[in-house]
Amino acid sequence: MKDIDDMTKHSRQSLKAVDFDALELKGGDFESDQRKGIAPPPLQKPYPEDADLIDLVHPGKINIGQIPLSQAIDKRKSRRKFSQTPLSMEELSFLLWSTQGVQDVEKNQVWTKRTVPSGGARQPFETYLIINWVEGLEPGIYRYIPIEHKLLQIQLAEPDQQEKVKEASLGQGFVGQCAVTFVWAAIPYRAEWRYRLISHKNIGIEAGHICQNLYLACEAIDAGTCAIAAYNQKLMDEIIGVDGEDEFTVYLSPVGKIEE
Ligand SMILES: Cc1cc2nc3c(=O)[nH]c(=O)nc-3n(C[C@H](O)[C@H](O)[C@H](O)COP(=O)(O)O)c2cc1C
Repeated sequence: MKDIDDMTKHSRQSLKAVDFDALELKGGDFESDQRKGIAPPPLQKPYPEDADLIDLVHPGKINIGQIPLSQAIDKRKSRRKFSQTPLSMEELSFLLWSTQGVQDVEKNQVWTKRTVPSGGARQPFETYLIINWVEGLEPGIYRYIPIEHKLLQIQLAEPDQQEKVKEASLGQGFVGQCAVTFVWAAIPYRAEWRYRLISHKNIGIEAGHICQNLYLACEAIDAGTCAIAAYNQKLMDEIIGVDGEDEFTVYLSPVGKIEE
């Protein structure tokens, strides 16, 4: 029991501001790689040069989701029952742009500005999609390529995709049974390069910004979502194909058309 108490206390620490004096680091100098002059990591996870990226609807051409913001905020709630109606490519494009859309790429490739805030504009998340029902896309695992605003297909669905997602979500069946599940994986070094040990508090906070935009964007297209933090780390990382060390799942959210 003592161990659990100690672990809980230790875990609380990650929510607090880093005490540089206690760490005997002068003036907040935590010797980040940025300060050492090391080049920044890629702004998005690289993809094979010969990859056949899938076009999405350009943000400037998206004509949906135009309900008043106050209405989207007022309607927002966690939804766990979805119809099997597929999402259109325009709807999926709108949800991806709302959660990770790139507004600006710095000329030296040091940062991107996106539709969600991020400490130091480090934007440490990758978006994976577990797709069941999206018009024009075969079921499977995909990754959003935000700078190009395109999709990379990672693998076609295995016959037991929905079952695996349910198992990886600790038996929460509605997670696999939806049009598409958004899975956000952090690449911590993208933030650590600049912020080192203050990165991890930021990463947790930033997952919340992304998911809240997904909630509001869903409500604007008569779809719904539900934030999920109860999942099996190893199984979910295996489903999206990440190594679990330098990149790992932090948060997920199933999306589907609302079934009242
Ligand atoms: C960090 C976080 C983790 C959550 N994890 C789960 C989850 O694993 N399963 C689930 O059904 N709901 C989950 N939820 C949704 C909450 O249960 C829900 O937000 C809460 O009951 C309030 O309902 P509302 O969102 O409709 O206002 C989570 C919400 C947050 C913010």
